[in-house]
Amino acid sequence: MRLFFTKENIHEGSLILVNRNYPLQKESGNVLCAPLETQQEIRMEETAGKNLYRLFVNLADSSQIAGVSGYRTKHEQVQIFEDSLKENGKEFTETYVAFPDCSEHQTGLAIDLVKKSEEIDFICPDFPREGVCQQFREQAAEYGFIERYPKEKEAVTGIGEEPWHFRYVGTPHAQIMREKGMVLEEYTEWLKQFSREKPFRWKENRIYYVRGQEETGISIPDNTEYHISGNNVDGFVVTLTGETNEKRAGKCKTGKCKN
Ligand code: DAL
Ligand code: ZN
Repeated sequence: MRLFFTKENIHEGSLILVNRNYPLQKESGNVLCAPLETQQEIRMEETAGKNLYRLFVNLADSSQIAGVSGYRTKHEQVQIFEDSLKENGKEFTETYVAFPDCSEHQTGLAIDLVKKSEEIDFICPDFPREGVCQQFREQAAEYGFIERYPKEKEAVTGIGEEPWHFRYVGTPHAQIMREKGMVLEEYTEWLKQFSREKPFRWKENRIYYVRGQEETGISIPDNTEYHISGNNVDGFVVTLTGETNEKRAGKCKTGKCKN
């Protein structure tokens, strides 16, 4: 099967890199949901939300965790940025609040979480590296989430350490990023060395990059699960799950297979 993508599609999907260098091109058209039953005002992109819900169900006591901020409109991001400028000044704001259109919150793929307490800091909520919050953090990758702004990568992300901000990138990408200690800036760049002919293999998955053209055609082998996301920079990340027919035939032990 051959699928076709437009240049616009480069800016859509769960692996898009959104930062100061690669702003959003348009208001997100993602379908939203409310993943936290007691907080209907916190919304996320549908697949991200479903996985957050699954992750919460699996935690020993998710009632100690609350959402602080999920999907934001551009208008809301402008408001947060301007309010913080007034209250906290330029240096703090530029460290902890993304410029409008440079925030992952505008995609619906990011969520800020807090350990419930009397006082909650909206910009820098407390999400400690212990107890149920740490349990969330440790299980996050299995559900497609990454801690997006680690301390040791501040120079790469351009954002200060944010132990509370989680970004949905999907599986197996979140697990690979954690295993390799890469942030999204590094991961999207690193993937560019892999092609359809020489993909990166991880467990059942083959992952590769396709440079975006005016019209980009991507071939998917039969009987293969696939996922394709733009990278918001210059192309697409293709994820194929399961073996191709040819590969299965190659493993045939009976000698009856043609390949
Ligand atoms: N706090 C993150 C960087 C944001 O505003 O998107
Ligand atoms: Zn955030």
